[in-house]
Amino acid sequence: MYPLKRNRRLRTTQALRSLVSETTISANDFIVPLFIVEGKGVKEEIPSMPNYYRYSLDTLPTELKELWTLGLRCVLLFVKVSEDLKDNNGTEALNPNGLMQQAIKKVKDTCPDMVVMTDVALDPYSIYGHDGIISEGRVINDDTNAVLAEMALSHANAGADIVAPSDMMDGRIFEIRSLLEDEGFHDTGIMSYSAKYASAFYGPFRDALDSAPADVKDIPKDKKTYQMDPANREEAIKETLMDIEEGADIVMVKPGLCYLDIVRDLKNAVQVPIAVYQVSGEYAMLKAAAEKGWLDHDQVMLEQVTAIKRAGASIIASYFAKDVVKLL
Ligand code: PBG
Repeated sequence: MYPLKRNRRLRTTQALRSLVSETTISANDFIVPLFIVEGKGVKEEIPSMPNYYRYSLDTLPTELKELWTLGLRCVLLFVKVSEDLKDNNGTEALNPNGLMQQAIKKVKDTCPDMVVMTDVALDPYSIYGHDGIISEGRVINDDTNAVLAEMALSHANAGADIVAPSDMMDGRIFEIRSLLEDEGFHDTGIMSYSAKYASAFYGPFRDALDSAPADVKDIPKDKKTYQMDPANREEAIKETLMDIEEGADIVMVKPGLCYLDIVRDLKNAVQVPIAVYQVSGEYAMLKAAAEKGWLDHDQVMLEQVTAIKRAGASIIASYFAKDVVKLL
């Protein structure tokens, strides 16, 4: 066929390359994770996540307005609660006046049209840093689900648009959907962390929220009895199909880059939007390499989010969201 067919013809200029580009990135694609802390006047950088901050409720509006101005329309809220509010059952998670519930209202007061997603899991509230209730050294599935459903309801009550269970208990989507329906929250959506792996890439996030599994005798040191084994692929499809059946509106693969084969598998298997969480370790890795001058930060960042979309995700939760849209 050569020389009639030359693939390089369509790569000659930037305009041509853009014309035939199969993947585009826009502000609409992003979820911005936000870390909220107690206190006043707080905007503190997370040591293992350069240029990423925890905000107190009073410093949050400035950040929210900047996001809105940049065209970012969706936030995912996480809270860091003080040690004295933690227990084994996540009691504080249900406090109608808790930090999360106040943060949801703060976002809605500041930017009423911002999509508010909330993390539903017990780890920031757990003395053991686990996503569920512990008994006899095990995370107890069904008792945890009951709390998760109440937690989701509490977020919906405070004004959350979408609740995002990140815990990986079996059946929690069903429990959450059922309770939301019973209580009349028919339009509150569920974004399920459906294929969430037991990954070492979550380290900086656990620093940010002080939520790492505790080093306590007879308490599991990792989350491998509920999060998925990185070796598994078929299981991700099974997990995700079950979550959709139970009522998930959006499904998620987490982490991102190491798991793009899973994203493509799901793209071919499901008909709901697929989100990817480009997690804290992925963020930290690039920041560190760029700081050393070993990688071009912006080019690598754009390449990474493009790859995530190309794999089949239509939504990206990313700490790079602001950096990316500033470049578009
Ligand atoms: C906890 C939760 C984690 C993340 C999101 N929700 C950590 C974990 O499972 O231990 C990780 C996000 C990140 O690393 O950026 N339920």
